[in-house]
Amino acid sequence: MNTCVVGLQWGDEGKGKVVDILAEKSDIVVRYGGGANAGHTVVIGDEKFALHLLPSGSIRPKTVCVIANGVVVDPEVLLGEIDSLAKRGITLDGRLLISESAHVVLDYHKAEDKFREASLGDNKIGTTVRGIGPCYSDKVGRSYALRMTDLLDLDNLKEKLDKIVNYKNKIFAALYNAEPIKADEIFEKCKLYSQRLSKYVCNTTEFLHQQIESGKNILFEGAQGALLDLDHGTFPFVTSSNASSLGVGPGCGVPVQMIDNFIGVVKAYTTRVGEGPFPTELNDKIGQYIRDKGHEYGTTTGRPRRCGWFDAMVVKYAAKIGGINEIAMMHLDTLAGLDEVKICTGYTIDGKEVKMFPSNIDRLAKVKCRFETLKGFGQEITNIDSFEKLPAEAKQYVKTVADAVGLPVKIIGVGPSRKQTIFRK
Ligand code: GDP
Ligand code: IMO
Ligand code: MG
Repeated sequence: MNTCVVGLQWGDEGKGKVVDILAEKSDIVVRYGGGANAGHTVVIGDEKFALHLLPSGSIRPKTVCVIANGVVVDPEVLLGEIDSLAKRGITLDGRLLISESAHVVLDYHKAEDKFREASLGDNKIGTTVRGIGPCYSDKVGRSYALRMTDLLDLDNLKEKLDKIVNYKNKIFAALYNAEPIKADEIFEKCKLYSQRLSKYVCNTTEFLHQQIESGKNILFEGAQGALLDLDHGTFPFVTSSNASSLGVGPGCGVPVQMIDNFIGVVKAYTTRVGEGPFPTELNDKIGQYIRDKGHEYGTTTGRPRRCGWFDAMVVKYAAKIGGINEIAMMHLDTLAGLDEVKICTGYTIDGKEVKMFPSNIDRLAKVKCRFETLKGFGQEITNIDSFEKLPAEAKQYVKTVADAVGLPVKIIGVGPSRKQTIFRK
């Protein structure tokens, strides 16, 4: 059984938690897109792990972890993660595979991300400044790109790096008046990356197909969320990869026909980090209540997340483009204590009903949300372990979301830890 887990909002839905739980019954967990912009949190008892590049299956000692070709790999972040897990007694040796075709994020990408954002002023995207956009731009542009396979070939790497850094320095000086970057320094770092990472680098597409043929269970872990998808999200306020489940095929070489189950993760409300439209945003004390209670501060950058009501138009759209067949709803516990809760069930533009979420941001700016208001649930639910035991209002909330989205809600999060998860048949 192969399963894909993806976010159906603007990221941070709780994918890390869901993947960690499902990894128990999987042999392999695959990251297929994004880079160190992702921040996936896994909480086990009192222990908390924040993963950026390693798949969320890493915490389980026997799970094989694959970083596939669609990921942009920042070797410095990756080595930091491997070392930090090793200090906590978790080794990746013998069970981590990195695609030779994955592109490499280096210092000049992060510098470029910073320069571009600064030069955009109020029009900035609000990126994580992890070099994601510049690295994917180089990938698409081809001539100045480096992949993991290049790190294995140090004899030729120096020449390639000189060419790239020379080109980048011309642009940085002309556009941003920046100090030149030193190719030698980057090469020295690459030598270290090569030394330490070479043993993990291979053809992950070949590996995955072998494993599928031998009947292994594979879990594909999405990063970001469908509304941050480069093609289908709220462009230009998106990330630079296909962050919806549409990215899984190109991101790892496994066609969607080979994936049996697509689980869409949502929060019981909506959050977004960075700039861009957000129809159900709450710039009031309810938004602050959710932020405080849900600890809504970015896992990667620490920025406060923007909070708003659950938007069924967003999730319906994301589920449709992603071929989603079931929903995992996290953070239901965070809504406890509110007198009433709202769900956006429709949009109008100039009084006319909108059929599908308009990802075009000029149209999106014109939408008026229609809300369904429900009674809140006063009682805390963090210790509840079955759907039946939830307060009637919480059950009604889940049912209303399921009806509005048109999909069953099969997993419910009532707290950050592994144990605080309800499974429904
Ligand atoms: P991801 O990027 O989708 O993996 O999500 P993040 O890890 O960035 O953000 C989700 C946050 O919510 C993390 O701090 C999780 O520990 C936490 N979390 C996940 N599920 C639940 C839940 O059901 N309730 C609460 N209160 N926290 C949760
Ligand atoms: P996970 O996997 C939330 C957002 C950034 C910014 C936009 C572009 O943890 O859900 P980028 O650095 O990718 O060029 O930034 O995308 N963004 C995320 N928001 N969760 C993420 O990942 C995100 N990754 C990128 O905040 O708005
Ligand atoms: Mg996150």
